[in-house]
Amino acid sequence: MMTPVSAPDVDSSTTPNTHNVPYLCKPFMGESLERPPVWFMRQAGRYMEEYRAIRKKVSFLELCKDLDLATEVSLQPYKAFGMDAVIMFCDILIPPEAMGMELHFGDGGPKFAAPLNHVDDVKKLTVPNPADSMGFVMDLLGNLRKELASDPHTALIGFAGAPWTLATYMIEGGTSKNFTRLKGWMYDQPDALHMLLDKLTDTVIAYLNAQIDAGAQVVQLFDTWGGLLDEAGYREFVQPYAKRVMDNLNRSTSPAMYYINTAAHLTDAVLEIRPDGLSVDHRVPLTVMRERAAAMGMPNLVLQGNIDPIAMLAKPEKLKPIVEKLLVENQGQPHIFNVGHGFIPQTPTQNVQHVVDWVKAYGA
Ligand code: CP3
Repeated sequence: MMTPVSAPDVDSSTTPNTHNVPYLCKPFMGESLERPPVWFMRQAGRYMEEYRAIRKKVSFLELCKDLDLATEVSLQPYKAFGMDAVIMFCDILIPPEAMGMELHFGDGGPKFAAPLNHVDDVKKLTVPNPADSMGFVMDLLGNLRKELASDPHTALIGFAGAPWTLATYMIEGGTSKNFTRLKGWMYDQPDALHMLLDKLTDTVIAYLNAQIDAGAQVVQLFDTWGGLLDEAGYREFVQPYAKRVMDNLNRSTSPAMYYINTAAHLTDAVLEIRPDGLSVDHRVPLTVMRERAAAMGMPNLVLQGNIDPIAMLAKPEKLKPIVEKLLVENQGQPHIFNVGHGFIPQTPTQNVQHVVDWVKAYGA
């Protein structure tokens, strides 16, 4: 955890000095803000003309591994729209590739050439030293910190996939509908699945700590498929591994957020992970989550979210009241403005600009 959070009513002389702290980090230090920090999941990507122009020349994986291009693409949304944070441009499937799995990205999304079949496949995977096979990610973070040196307001975000979410792709081979292969492992060979999750946990801990060392000021753990199981399944296969990641990160200087999707049935189990911030999808009102967090002894938990990413496609006059409602409901609370899941390629750039402007004008 960061510096202990001070109660809002304490004498101002004892509140932490957050003067040189990036705006995104302030809610984690207990500072009450006039308006929330704003950034978006998938804020870099195909909805931007500038991104598509670069993707015409290089493949997605080449882009992730090219220092100059990945730096440029990471900065594109920040330069165009003025978000309060830059998220490094990369993908959650880079660590599985570094563990030994051949990865491709096509029109249908990510594909592993040889999805895991058997416990012997798990035994062959290595726990990589992040400085070796994923050194390009740390180089990117260092480069982005240099680019942002003249702008201490703006935070640099690093990230990783959570062990469970990574395992879904490694076993299914790509995006899935019914998760028959993954659930086959869960029912028929749970020990093999646990062995995989254990290796992934070690990989992700080392990877995120290396990102923090390289300059990530906030890190986010993406558990996109964390809501797939019932609560008993979540508590067996998902939560312990995500919690072990959180418990082993160097969070004294860089707060860590946990993102989970479709998890309204898992609220208490998710909160037990005790991240510094929880990123909530659009199906759960932040007010409901905040009440549960307070009841569990976390009244100052930073909540991130949670506009429906598809609402970003609405007419500006319809979108504006949705944005305002979220702002009003979370006023004075530790809140980071974001979408509930990543932007889709059809997101109109004008709406992105509107939302950033509306959030920044709030409370001014
Ligand atoms: O701007 C940012 O948010 C940073 C970059 C980022 C990407 N992927 C770039 C990307 C981040 C944080 C991710 C995380 C990620 N990747 C997740 C977790 C968050 C989520 O969206 O649920 C997942 C599940 C993945 C795996 C992945 N990568 C999928 C399923 C796909 C295909 C879907 C799609 O949108 O095409 C990708 C590809 C991908 N990752 C793209 C981008 C910009 C599109 C690639 C392209 O240019 O063709």
